[in-house]
Parts: sequence; C-alpha cells; structure tokens
Amino acid sequence: MIYNHGMVDSASEHAEGLNPIQTRQINKEDLALIQIILEQWVRHWKNNQLIPEEIAGIIKNMENSLTSEDSSFYIAETPKDGIIGVVGIKTPSEKMKEFTTSQKAVELVNFFVDKKHRGGKGVGSTLLRRIESEVIKVGKDQIVLNSGRRYQESWGFYDKIGFERVGIAKDIYGVGNDAPVWLKQVI
Ligand SMILES: CC(C)(COP(=O)(O)OP(=O)(O)OC[C@H]1O[C@@H](n2cnc3c(N)ncnc32)[C@H](O)[C@@H]1OP(=O)(O)O)[C@@H](O)C(=O)NCCC(=O)NCCS
Repeated sequence: MIYNHGMVDSASEHAEGLNPIQTRQINKEDLALIQIILEQWVRHWKNNQLIPEEIAGIIKNMENSLTSEDSSFYIAETPKDGIIGVVGIKTPSEKMKEFTTSQKAVELVNFFVDKKHRGGKGVGSTLLRRIESEVIKVGKDQIVLNSGRRYQESWGFYDKIGFERVGIAKDIYGVGNDAPVWLKQVI
C-alpha cells in the first residue's frame, strides 16, 4: 500500500509520535515567534482590529518572567512546525484570588494555540498537562483563570478539560466587561 503522508492529519501524526508535541519553558529567542501567534488572537472582539499595545504588554510580561519567580511561560512545539502554542502561570491577581479556595493557587494566563493547530489536535491539552505538572512540582494545588468575551469560543475547552465554572469576575476588563472564572484542583 502507498501511504500519502500529505494526507495524514496532524492529530494522528502527533498521537503516533511522527511529529510529537513537546513543551518547554520559553526563552528570549522565542518571543518573536510567540508574537506571531499573539497577533492571531489579541484583537478587538467587535472589529477584529489588532491591539499592538496589549501584545507588547504580554511580550513584556513574558520577558520579565525569565528573571522572576512570580510567573513562568511554556511553549508547545513540534519538530516540523516549530512553536505552535503558549501559556503562562503567575501568582493570582487580587481579584482572581477571591475565586480560589486554597492559598496555593496559580493563575493561568495568555493561553494561545496557533490557528492552524488548534481545535482538537491536542496542543492545548498537552500544554495544560505540562502546566499541571509544573504547578504540582512547585507545591501549588489549584489553577484559576478567567476568559473574557473576546475568547468566548474557548469557553467550552475549559469546561471539557476539567475546569469548573466558579463565578464571574465583574468589570475585570473595564466597566461592564465581565469574565467567567474557572477553577481546577490539580492535587
Ligand atoms: C482554547 C485553546 C487554547 C485550546 O487549545 P486546543 O489546542 O485547541 O485544544 P485541544 O486540541 O488540546 O483540545 C482538547 C479537547 O478540547 C476540545 N476543544 C478544543 N477547543 C474547544 C472549544 N472551544 N469548545 C469545546 N471543546 C473544545 C477538543 O476538541 C479536544 O477534545 P477531544 O480530546 O475530545 O478531541 C485554543 O483553541 C486557542 O488558542 N483558542 C484561541 C485563543 C483563545 O481563546 N485562548 C484562550 C484565552 S482565555
């Protein structure tokens, strides 16, 4: 039988180990490639306009994480595709602490998978598994996150992947701009 490798879908390719999804902590050289993924998603919810100052802020936070204990960011990559996803954890903001039930919670932030590789190929869940093992490694036990209306399409992902909706963060993105909050106990 002749196999047409061009037809192998990437989810089964990952599962079969042909193009495995790997994860690691970011380094400075990754930032330019991460920016390309951010530009796909960090856009105004109404008109889809890019929001450069917000992207610059996220990149700055990622850069700061390299020398700080308060946050860390991880990327997903494959040998064939390079960097295809990113996510971070940090000490929860005061507002997000209200939704936690443990002193040992972390907040999940900036979870983005490249458009070509999202939605069922396992990139997001692989990154989340890595985050959970890092969280446990540093003695933490809960992950809290919020997701605003801009990312409404992702809400089903959190419901599916073991997070529970625990409330609404009122006005978290400005007056009248609320966001649901999810919590996951990892240990
Ligand atoms: C949300 C996101 C990070 C998830 O990553 P992903 O790589 O798409 O997720 P996976 O492929 O690992 O999906 C894991 C499971 O969740 C399901 N899933 C993924 N997105 C989903 C969604 N929006 N709604 C319901 N289920 C979803 C997948 O089908 C898969 O199910 P399966 O195991 O039965 O196949 C990614 O889709 C993304 O970057 N979205 C756009 C940006 C965004 O909204 N980020 C979140 C900001 S808060």
